[in-house]
Amino acid sequence: MNHRPIRKAVFPVAGLGTRFLPATKAMPKEMLTIVDRPIIQHVVDEAREAGIEHFIFVTGRNKGVIEDHFDRQAELENILRAKGKHDEIALLEELLPGPGQTSFTRQQEPKGLGHAVWCARELVGNEPFALLLPDMLTQTRGDSCLKQMITGYNENGGNIIGVEEVSSEETDQYGVVSIEKTKTDENCWPITGMVEKPKAGTAPSNLIIMGRYILQPEIFSILKDQREGAGNEIQLTDAMHSLMEVQDFHAIKYDGMSFDCGSRVGFLTANVALALAHPALRNEFAAELRKLLEDLTHRSKKD
Ligand code: UTP
Repeated sequence: MNHRPIRKAVFPVAGLGTRFLPATKAMPKEMLTIVDRPIIQHVVDEAREAGIEHFIFVTGRNKGVIEDHFDRQAELENILRAKGKHDEIALLEELLPGPGQTSFTRQQEPKGLGHAVWCARELVGNEPFALLLPDMLTQTRGDSCLKQMITGYNENGGNIIGVEEVSSEETDQYGVVSIEKTKTDENCWPITGMVEKPKAGTAPSNLIIMGRYILQPEIFSILKDQREGAGNEIQLTDAMHSLMEVQDFHAIKYDGMSFDCGSRVGFLTANVALALAHPALRNEFAAELRKLLEDLTHRSKKD
């Protein structure tokens, strides 16, 4: 069956990043660096690899630097050109979305993820779209996480939630899906329910929602009337629950792993993991890491 193509992606970047203070006092957490580029660049690249043509950012105050990052810096380019730094110019060129491929709208007040998504309604219009939480970074060996999800969407249509398997001890920190196990597919299943942070021992599965979605535009009319939920915020999960009553949702367990860069440990781990996967940095960085780990072992033996 032909399903409507996914051309647009929404990036909600209006959160306050309180888990990462003081780094995020004046600097948006999406601009913190993983290896050699801001987190948001990694996430936009994931979407570009999946064939996304239009990038919609839902921003807030103090986030203007994100808009600047996805624009030309004429003065810098002139200086690089004058110095003959052609590789650097080519790199900046490669990472820049084309003219007119980005849009920015304001959430005005951080009223929750559901509210941030609703703020993108005019820019998305009446078509299915991808939603990528920009503080979640994914690492895959093959196709990007969103590309794997779009492959699944092209087969199943409807709404898709990217999921990842975690241990039973960790499920209480995340949104967890319940699925209908089918024999035909090992990575894609119909979703029968979702629960937010289930109490230890009560999770319906080990599959957590990790910040990648493909949603039908009907989510917007639900979000419009969505009441505040947990944390007095408008929750996307509540709206997806309502949409599930009338539309199909599938979970896709993508091949790869994610890092929650909104938390300090997740951010540090992402830096290590991506540096170790970087062809030009891997060996030198691994040697430094080994020294640090040996030192740690010595010290803990002495203690
Ligand atoms: P988080 O809850 O992880 O982000 O929201 P946060 O609110 O910035 O973080 P803490 O908990 O205070 O540290 C997930 C994503 O949704 C966006 C955030 O920017 C983040 O990318 N978001 C969240 C909004 O755009 N608006 C909101 O009102 C809330």
